[in-house]
Amino acid sequence: MSLTPPPVAIDEYLSWCKESIDRFLSSLFEAEEITPYKTLAESMRYSLLAGGKRVRPVLAMAAIEAIGKDPVPFLPLLAPLELIHTYSLIHDDLPAMDNDSLRRGKATNHVIYGDATAILAGDALLTFAFTLLSDPVYDNLASPEVRLKIVWELSNSSGINGMVGGQQMDIESEGKSLDLPSLEFLHRHKTGALIRGALRIGALLGGASGPSFEALDRYGAAVGIAFQIADDLLDVEGDAILLGKAAQKDQGRNKNTYPGLMGVSGARSMAEAKLSEALGAIEQFGGRATHLRELARYIIERRN
Ligand code: IPE
Ligand code: IPE
Ligand code: MG
Ligand code: MG
Ligand code: MG
Repeated sequence: MSLTPPPVAIDEYLSWCKESIDRFLSSLFEAEEITPYKTLAESMRYSLLAGGKRVRPVLAMAAIEAIGKDPVPFLPLLAPLELIHTYSLIHDDLPAMDNDSLRRGKATNHVIYGDATAILAGDALLTFAFTLLSDPVYDNLASPEVRLKIVWELSNSSGINGMVGGQQMDIESEGKSLDLPSLEFLHRHKTGALIRGALRIGALLGGASGPSFEALDRYGAAVGIAFQIADDLLDVEGDAILLGKAAQKDQGRNKNTYPGLMGVSGARSMAEAKLSEALGAIEQFGGRATHLRELARYIIERRN
């Protein structure tokens, strides 16, 4: 059990979770002698520890709580979500993709280390995720069966059937006008899949099955799309300093976004609809899902 119970207020809950996640992520890079490839390790660490809200592992933690378990011991098996997410951001920012120079309030990885190292840092973060998930050091945290299921969830939600597929569609659709079903498909893959995967991983670690697994899965699917709608809205209405990344860039890059298709208020209503769907899915958990409920609202109302 963790020593102190998690705080109820969502801002405090987020920083409470973020602190433990950041501590674990930072511990991964403490043993400097682990690699002769100092520049590669430094560039991985640079992006991973640059900040970041840690929403994906936090959602998984809240799912474990909703099932009635303490999420803190499972951090080593939740950190891989953040390794994969950070790799996706490093690659997303590359000149060949979105060509961005600001991320998490700092210069993007390729601006500091060059394209080749940025690509390799992404590759190494991606593979490191699976080293952690299968590391015998964590044999006590989950059975081999559960860990294999988690490997499947993480690889499936981040590969061609999830994030990477969505990123390909995002790039191929630049300059074309997608209709609503295609736009939802895009968001479901490029961003929604990994978030849904986070909920499914939390559900597996917490030992959920049957209706409670299904409920967390439905919540994850709705919140995953809502997350990217909010990201699209922040691009239109947000400010680079607060966001820690460039704003007002999607339109100029001819990206397919919810505000682009249906205007700011249409996109906002769509995000609200996804929020209701998410909240409806987890009714059965009662008071134990307070953090999941607050997180869903936070995801559509956040300022960065
Ligand atoms: C940004 O993700 C990219 C998307 C998938 C929309 P986050 O908004 O979670 O970024 P960080 O991790 O907090 O930097
Ligand atoms: C990125 O979507 C989704 C990823 C899989 C990384 P965006 O390209 O809109 O994310 P930002 O706005 O650069 O963070
Ligand atoms: Mg992109
Ligand atoms: Mg981008
Ligand atoms: Mg964006």
